[in-house]
Amino acid sequence: MARSLRPCHAFHTYQIQESFVSSLVDLGKRYWLPVYKPRDLVLDHGKGARVWDTENRDYVDFGAGIAVNALGHQDPDLLAALTAQAGKLWHSSNVFYTEPPLHLAQELVEASGFAERVFLCNSGAEANEAAIKLVRKWATAQGRSPEQRVIITFRGSFHGRTLATVTATAQPKYQEGYEPLPGGFRYLDFNDAAALEHAFVANDVAAVMLEPVQGEGGVLPAAPGFLKRVRELCDEHGALLVLDEIQCGMGRTGTLFAHAQDDVTPDIVTLAKALGCGFPIGAMLAGPKVASVMQFGAHGTTFGGNPMAAAVARVALRKLASPALLQNVQHQSAKLRETLMSLGSEFQIFSEVRGRGLMLGAVLSEKYRGKAGEILDFAAAHGLLVLQAGPDVLRFVPPLNIGHEDLADGLARLRAALSAFVAR
Ligand SMILES: Cc1ncc(COP(=O)(O)O)c(C=O)c1O
Repeated sequence: MARSLRPCHAFHTYQIQESFVSSLVDLGKRYWLPVYKPRDLVLDHGKGARVWDTENRDYVDFGAGIAVNALGHQDPDLLAALTAQAGKLWHSSNVFYTEPPLHLAQELVEASGFAERVFLCNSGAEANEAAIKLVRKWATAQGRSPEQRVIITFRGSFHGRTLATVTATAQPKYQEGYEPLPGGFRYLDFNDAAALEHAFVANDVAAVMLEPVQGEGGVLPAAPGFLKRVRELCDEHGALLVLDEIQCGMGRTGTLFAHAQDDVTPDIVTLAKALGCGFPIGAMLAGPKVASVMQFGAHGTTFGGNPMAAAVARVALRKLASPALLQNVQHQSAKLRETLMSLGSEFQIFSEVRGRGLMLGAVLSEKYRGKAGEILDFAAAHGLLVLQAGPDVLRFVPPLNIGHEDLADGLARLRAALSAFVAR
């Protein structure tokens, strides 16, 4: 696809400030609760792995709306499903059935290979909140006292921003100022099997909750064998295994569920992000031990299983589970990893490239620690949208159907951006 309007080096945030864009950006600065710091550009439309801003500059999208737009932008099948449902019925609540969430639940159960029931909701945090409540309800039904309902989570994890999920998120920066936090969580170092063994000694653990690949915490995969050991310990001590696949699930790592690569069967899995490919939806999948624990009135949400979201998610699930798509993830992953490693040596900028599938992190070398945000500015100025995972890691989560041409173009823009950054 042809590059639009101006050469890469012509976009610069200072130029954008002077344009009509600044009047839009000013609205955000004036009226939004200032909890975000978006870059000073306004995206307008997208197609495939590209997006265009209001000034018609194009960007290769290696961020996919934080690992959400797994089928890129304007996928024709998603669009058809959404518009067909939009012309029929938008919402019914769960007081009445509609067809899309009924089929979606069945399809998720069948695709999972372990789940018996599904709770549909609207976001990742809400799916994890449901999982935490389910663990507690299950532990209660087991006759455990409140003190014996501890959920173990891992440092560097990210599970959401509600009060319970931010407490599950074992990173102080997300928790500070929100105390008192709910009790019942214990934090351990990720991939430390010995610490986990020790944590079970008190006999008060109801569940272990983790991301098979930590996303926000730095794109850090579970070490080989770690999940298997977690499963064994959970089984020995009568605890549940909860996997947060909100970022790493839905094909992102090259298999529909990330845990398929760790050869474990979880009790609960949470999904969101790519499940709706950009339309908000979340899901909690419950296995046989927990599927009947919550009964009428135990939990709920007005918009969960919204027919438009579910109609989109059905198509997303079908397309993201397809062998050709998953093969593309593996294929493009190899190319992305190889090029990141070679850029790392060329500019002496990365100490490590890690992750799985199309969820890769490039860890900044000592000299450039803390500079991920600055590099993102250079990337945007060179027509590339990419993410960070903390201050020291660049995170690459492009659409899973990205083709050779877009990947190569994005990497060429990354090279130009890194070259400008190191020469700054
Ligand atoms: C692993 C993981 N869990 C939970 C969440 C929270 O999802 P949401 O922002 O949809 O509430 C995120 C979001 O980044 C995530 O990456």
